[in-house]
Amino acid sequence: MWKYPLSDIDLGKEEEQEVLKVLRSKWLSSGSVTERFEKAFSKYMGGGDAIAVSNGTAALHLALACLDLKKGDEVILPSLTFVATANAVLYVGATPVFADISGTDDLNISPDEIAKKVTRRTKAVVVMHYGGYPCDMASIKRIARKHGLYVVEDAAHAPGAEYRGEKCGTLGDLGCFSFFSNKNMVTGEGGLVFTCNKHLAEKVRTMRSHGMKSLSWDKYRGRLSSYDIEQLGYNYRTTEIQSALGMVQLKKLDRNNNRRKKLVQAYRSALKGVSGISIPFFKFEGSPSYHIFPILLEPTLSRDRVMERLKNFGIQTSVHYPPLHLFSLYRKRFGFEAGMFPKTEEVGGRELTLPLHPLMKTEDVEWIVKRLKDVIRDV
Ligand SMILES: Cc1ncc(COP(=O)(O)O)c(C=O)c1O
Repeated sequence: MWKYPLSDIDLGKEEEQEVLKVLRSKWLSSGSVTERFEKAFSKYMGGGDAIAVSNGTAALHLALACLDLKKGDEVILPSLTFVATANAVLYVGATPVFADISGTDDLNISPDEIAKKVTRRTKAVVVMHYGGYPCDMASIKRIARKHGLYVVEDAAHAPGAEYRGEKCGTLGDLGCFSFFSNKNMVTGEGGLVFTCNKHLAEKVRTMRSHGMKSLSWDKYRGRLSSYDIEQLGYNYRTTEIQSALGMVQLKKLDRNNNRRKKLVQAYRSALKGVSGISIPFFKFEGSPSYHIFPILLEPTLSRDRVMERLKNFGIQTSVHYPPLHLFSLYRKRFGFEAGMFPKTEEVGGRELTLPLHPLMKTEDVEWIVKRLKDVIRDV
């Protein structure tokens, strides 16, 4: 339908072969392929526990659930993120406390704003590396250390991204990944919790499968025949089919992130000096994963009209994100209102995401920018 979709997936023969092997093995739920995928992911991260789960939302839920948060505990997080980041806080009965972003150059949560929101009820901070651009983790960790807070990274955008030489997802107490079909590595639905804390890893692993310490796979191998339930768990297991895809996608991750980088460089140079737009994240620390390419339209331009005109050229665009605090659920339940997080709201109103995926060519970028320039001139 779209000449230029927002995202597309690099899937090929190798994925087909690995999935076929799984189907032929007739073991479809978590098993040896999932174990191998977890080991490979852990190695990629530089060591630690990698726990594959059914999706990124489940990863966030388990990451917060293993911290034993109670009703009334507060979790600080950005409002400029996907709704799953905040919903996970609600799942565990804690209170979401939003903090504004740094500004129109850096769309990540602001450490200064986090510091202002800390109370004696604060237990954790959830950061989200917007677009795969790492947050200011040094400052955030300093605040967390000072107040004894856990740090959870929503690294859904950031597989392979690095901050001061360390992988996003290893920087906090727990890192959460999504392998949904528009992400940098995809397994259809899928997710993963990463942690270097053995105690938390054990809890996440147990809660992933009903609170049981063993999987059907362990029983099949004769490892365990009985079990006790010590804590509430869920069914957030993944499948061997997802893990087979994950194995191949992980191998392609660095190459595809690099491809994204080249395309972002092409966008930046084609958009240089174009009036009516600005490009966030010109200055940032670390090596991003370039998950999306966000631009900001001047306030005088109608984003709806720009999106509509680009659609007529077959160019799909999107908005990352409508601020969470303005969703009815969050307004009604917690009393959030417009004006509370001005920078988030400004970006929420002006941001436009252009197509970016590893199957694009630099000529595609040039074509899209040409159309964008025409549209901006006309609307
Ligand atoms: C920032 C962010 N957090 C969490 C999620 C949730 O991941 P999933 O869709 O795999 O549940 C997504 C992706 O959809 C996301 O973009």
